[in-house]
Amino acid sequence: MNNNPIGVFDSGIGGLSVWKELRQALPHESIVYLADGKNCPYGDKSAEEVTAFVLHAIEELMRHNVKLIVVACNTATAVAIDLLRKQYDIPFVGMEPAVKPAALSSESGVIGILATHASLQGDLFRNTCAKYADKVRILSSVGEGFVECVEKGEEHSAHIAEPIVRRAVEPLLAEGADRIVLGCTHYPFLTHHIEKVIGERKVEIVNPAPAVARRTEWLLKEHNIKASTSHKAEYSFITFADDGYLARITDKAMALTMEN
Ligand code: DGL
Repeated sequence: MNNNPIGVFDSGIGGLSVWKELRQALPHESIVYLADGKNCPYGDKSAEEVTAFVLHAIEELMRHNVKLIVVACNTATAVAIDLLRKQYDIPFVGMEPAVKPAALSSESGVIGILATHASLQGDLFRNTCAKYADKVRILSSVGEGFVECVEKGEEHSAHIAEPIVRRAVEPLLAEGADRIVLGCTHYPFLTHHIEKVIGERKVEIVNPAPAVARRTEWLLKEHNIKASTSHKAEYSFITFADDGYLARITDKAMALTMEN
């Protein structure tokens, strides 16, 4: 048993889509959420730059005595998860591109992956795709402007969000994709617009966040570090950006809590 917090990290606000699932699945676990904010977006930066940002963030979370870290960022996972597992003693959970569930459930035999440029370039994505390449055709599309839209809190403005979503999603649908995998933790906040673009078509959106929460629970048990059932969970938020950004993160987290 261990009542220390879990650390959750993302380049920005997007990881809150994972934070929400963790909170629901693990109600006794305290969580420290670190949103870099200062260097976001990571998706168009080099692997070297992203690795440096990630190491800085993990050092900060370690100062909060976290017992496990969820890297709630596909880009950071793609670039640095192997290094983190080598360098630190605590367990890490990364974001897997959810190619497997999409490939196994697709009826059309075509699936579409939405992710950042850096994630799509990484070995993790390439290796995962190679495993399923004989079962389905895997298409990918960069969610150009998605991260910026969510970071600015513009995901509810249809006139801003819908055209950028349409640009990335329509080519996947035109090729017959019947599964759209959200390969970046910011993208679930645009689900409503993706659904609108899908319209009447029989296409499912695959969000890996619930599976990440289940994997976290499994690892906590495996390492015998679950919080006690009498522990009252606390939630804190930190950032490398300014106080205004911190307030936006906290407000967004609060809004997500109300949705449950
Ligand atoms: N949420 C990050 C991810 O999952 C966003 C990437 C970015 O900062 O560009 O990849």
